[in-house]
Amino acid sequence: MIYATLPRRVYIETYGCQMNLADSELIGGILDRSGHLLIDDLSSADVVLLNTCSIRDNAEQRIHRRLSQIRETKQANPGLVIGILGCMAERLRSRFLEEEQLVDLVVGPDEYRKLPALVEGAVAGEKGIAVKLSRVESYDEIIPLRTDGVGAWLSVMRGCDKFCTFCVVPFTRGRERSRPLASVVREVEGLSARGFKEVTLLGQNVNSYRDGASDFADLIQSVAAVDRSMRVRFTTSHPQDFPDRLVSTIATTPNICNHIHLPAQSGSDRILSLMNRSYTSDQFLRLVGSIRREIPLVSFSTDIISGFPSEKEEDHQMTLDLLREARFDGAYTFKYSPREHTKAWQMQDDVSEEVKGARVSEIAKLQHEISLALNRRLIGKAERILVEGPSRKSDTQYAGRTDTNKVVVFTRSSESPGEYCSVRIREVTSATLLGDVVADSDSQPERKSA
Ligand code: 5AD
Ligand code: SF4
Repeated sequence: MIYATLPRRVYIETYGCQMNLADSELIGGILDRSGHLLIDDLSSADVVLLNTCSIRDNAEQRIHRRLSQIRETKQANPGLVIGILGCMAERLRSRFLEEEQLVDLVVGPDEYRKLPALVEGAVAGEKGIAVKLSRVESYDEIIPLRTDGVGAWLSVMRGCDKFCTFCVVPFTRGRERSRPLASVVREVEGLSARGFKEVTLLGQNVNSYRDGASDFADLIQSVAAVDRSMRVRFTTSHPQDFPDRLVSTIATTPNICNHIHLPAQSGSDRILSLMNRSYTSDQFLRLVGSIRREIPLVSFSTDIISGFPSEKEEDHQMTLDLLREARFDGAYTFKYSPREHTKAWQMQDDVSEEVKGARVSEIAKLQHEISLALNRRLIGKAERILVEGPSRKSDTQYAGRTDTNKVVVFTRSSESPGEYCSVRIREVTSATLLGDVVADSDSQPERKSA
């Protein structure tokens, strides 16, 4: 068969969270190892794979629209293999494959090892489906296909056992399981040798990482010890899994970044309980306070859901109060979106879209004021940044991040991506700091006081 000798040209498009971006690199690694060619141009692809997200309905709708577009290109190229991977694969397999014959492949998050065989089958005209969830698959020895750069994502655990009542993740990605500590450390050694300067440890609930007697504090300490000139970040943290030892590890290890993404979801204890979040707003605020006492310069970001079933104006006001007290550096706010299989799916989605939208805007406005006020305190200070590359708006302007995860834009002189430099902050918005490079010959990531 003539095709067997050709490398298939595979184009992957990724939707959703950082875990999915990391998964796409893993998929790239699996396909590369089996002789496929990963490309970044859909028009010359033999195989197009959409790595999908189910977290909210609007994410799924976007992917459905994209799929219709791609199916149009299939009319010009009937041999094109179309695959749906990731969270939507498990949820919607029958709809994609059986009922509507929309795609050739449907592959869930724990079945990527089968991709090379399934792709070959699909090229030969067989529809392929693999959507079983696993209790053990962690793709441990697969080396993700990464483009060289400043920062790398690295999944250290998969799945989630928390079962927040609004969240589809435990159903689409299955039970929690962690990679062995030693193999994570080996991968980070490889990243350091390749010149990466930052690694972000990923998990849906990364703090519940466990490998035998080792927990997340052990893991992050071992990762940080690999290369002290490399920054270590992590996301996402559930407030329930923040032991003091983890806080002190972050506080005392200079290259572990002082930024914590700590989703609160709501400020109303009644709603938090309906969400099965296992903390009250007071407990949440106490945790934030105790982390700030240990790590005074720490920054926090959070996630908030507006319009969860039965949320009243007074619940919403409690969320605004939580924001005022916690003073997060940033917040992502989402309109509640009912997800099949979840507990909240059984509850009545009784907050109108209009009210959800109004509450989201009100939260965003308050957060904007808080972020701006916090950023203004940095004016005149020198911040240590890791240079990432040209800023989004201009080639002469460069951008980097503080260890507290704030974007800093500055005029480039001799700085290159991957180098550390100090920038004195001159001007700020709620999302960005602007400043000027100040002389500093150090190559270490630690924050310097100005
Ligand atoms: N509706 C709205 N937002 C959701 N999230 C998770 N599930 C839903 C849902 N059904 C949000 C949570 C979570 C973030 C990743 O997405 O805030 O922290
Ligand atoms: Fe979803 Fe809750 Fe798990 Fe986060 S902790 S992935 S919101 S179930």
